[in-house]
Amino acid sequence: MEIKKVGVLTSGGDAPGMNAAIRSVVRTGLHKGWEMVGVRNGYQGLLSESFTTLGTRDVGGILNRGGTILGSARCLEFKNLDGQRKAIRNLNRAGIDALVVIGGNGSQTGSYKLSSLGYPVVGVASTIDNDLYGSDITIGVDTALNIVLEAIDRLKITASSHQRAFLIEVMGRDCGYLALMAAIAGGAEQVLIPEIDFEPEEVAAEISEAYEKGKAHAIIVVAEGAKYNAEQLRDYFKKHRERLGFSLRISILGHTQRGGSPTAYDRTLASRLGAGATDALHRGESGVLIGMIKGEIVSTPLDNVVSNKKPIDLGLFDLQKILD
Ligand code: ADP
Ligand code: F6P
Repeated sequence: MEIKKVGVLTSGGDAPGMNAAIRSVVRTGLHKGWEMVGVRNGYQGLLSESFTTLGTRDVGGILNRGGTILGSARCLEFKNLDGQRKAIRNLNRAGIDALVVIGGNGSQTGSYKLSSLGYPVVGVASTIDNDLYGSDITIGVDTALNIVLEAIDRLKITASSHQRAFLIEVMGRDCGYLALMAAIAGGAEQVLIPEIDFEPEEVAAEISEAYEKGKAHAIIVVAEGAKYNAEQLRDYFKKHRERLGFSLRISILGHTQRGGSPTAYDRTLASRLGAGATDALHRGESGVLIGMIKGEIVSTPLDNVVSNKKPIDLGLFDLQKILD
């Protein structure tokens, strides 16, 4: 089928660089002679027919902005077959021939569902979690990591002044990538991630060891989805404060990690992946995710993306332990 009109949406948790991806999809699509349409608020916009034509100037001045000019949403109705069918009816009624979905794991499951129903979709790998099979690195990770690092560097200064231990909680419901890389790049004493089992006493032992080594501080990075999160660990340490003999503070970085201006890396990655998406559609491909593997822009079938889990490199976990 000849493509004339292409829609683009951002879905799930916003990620710095999503705007650069929108800009790239729109401008490379216009360059191919297509009409480009923005869909507001993710899959919600497909259901409410929130469509807006996008010209080249409409995506000007957004490269350096975090968030997403199209808005993002988590849409429950779209998870049902009825919702997906309604979305396709609305896309057809608007004359939109194909869709580019910029988002993470959940969003690409949505892309897969649309594609399984016969609608042409291409996904673009974007989430600060970096938990998407089909891309070594996803849009937003580098910026989020740099925000976490800035926080670690600052917290280290105050931790050293008071000989304190700090638990820094970073995002990552199911995946410890961000925590692990932040711990390596930030020189943390320990990292706690969902993929590795641990008990609070092991964390206490690590903190005591840091003090025994003569360190003025102990920094532990914990992913929000780890077996015990920062608040649970703080409560445990409070209860056993007398015996353990150290005081501990927590700092939960939360959504600050998602709000930054995208780094050069994220802007270029997003520009390349966005272009990769329109190139794939132009080649007649659909039902694929555009990601970066070994530095190359690669298409991976969405059924592989949704049925595989991206493993974390446990060698990096061992490296962190040696370097602490
Ligand atoms: P992310 O893409 O950042 O992982 P979510 O997991 O919240 O974010 O998913 C974003 C949206 O994708 C959901 O609100 C929903 O509309 C859609 N989605 C998620 N899972 C599915 C699914 N199994 N089937 C259809 N749509 C889904
Ligand atoms: O998927 C990205 C992410 O930032 C996760 O790391 C985090 O668990 C989740 O989104 C937070 O979701 P919300 O923005 O709905 O609080």
